[in-house]
Amino acid sequence: MTKRNRLLMCPPHHFTVRYEINPWMNVQRKPDAVTAQDQWQQLVATFETVADIVFCEPAADAPDMVFTANAGFVFEERVVVSRFRHPERQTEEPHFAGWFEAQGFSLVDWPEDVRFEGAGDCLIDRGERRLWVGHGLRSDPRAGDALATAFDVPVHTLSLVDPRYYHLDTCFCPLADGYTLYHPAAFSAESQMLIRALIPAAKRIEVGEADARDFACNAVGLGEHVFMNRASETLRRELAARGFRVHESPVTEFLRAGGAVKCLSLNLDDPIA
Ligand code: ARG
Repeated sequence: MTKRNRLLMCPPHHFTVRYEINPWMNVQRKPDAVTAQDQWQQLVATFETVADIVFCEPAADAPDMVFTANAGFVFEERVVVSRFRHPERQTEEPHFAGWFEAQGFSLVDWPEDVRFEGAGDCLIDRGERRLWVGHGLRSDPRAGDALATAFDVPVHTLSLVDPRYYHLDTCFCPLADGYTLYHPAAFSAESQMLIRALIPAAKRIEVGEADARDFACNAVGLGEHVFMNRASETLRRELAARGFRVHESPVTEFLRAGGAVKCLSLNLDDPIA
């Protein structure tokens, strides 16, 4: 890779589990702050081997702000700032909007009543110019149309049916050359069919239950490099056979909030020119 991607991250100073908005969160099982800080720092260092990290300021009233994948959706220099479903996370919206504006991004006009949780629910295909959008648990089904209009790009919407995989990026991950990691059971039967119809078998990498629970689909792909919390020997081998190099960076404290490697970062240059 010649050009380096910039990834937005937010330090976990205020990260904790203070409310429960997904099945992984339990206010009785709070993450350990010191371990979380160490794991996050280690993830920054791991990413820095191939990408540049950009930081935003954490806010005391927003414990989930570390999950910058939900700041918004960035595509071709423009951004849709997230409109969160839960009031607990709506406090993050002005912080992220302010950051994008200060950085000179142009903000896309968005229908106020359409919930949309940014790059958590909208992923850019790496094989062709098209977007994958998840709905059913967080983002509004109308988000797909709004994105297609805003960016003039083909959009495929996928329906999420398992509350544990509430964002598309928890169960689906486009990689270089059109390869795609995904956990089929997280999708409706119809969406599973759509995935099989649009992505050739040779490019689909099915992720089983145990890897999915370890958030293996919540991965960041940068060229041949794939970063994730943990991968089984089988998954590691499957990726290696297709020319990918897996970098594990354990983020177990963040799994307690229902997020992992991909959720903790937002690619500002996807797809890279
Ligand atoms: N606790 C956060 C939530 O439920 C986790 C967000 C994870 N982010 C992601 N892109 N999947 O909203």
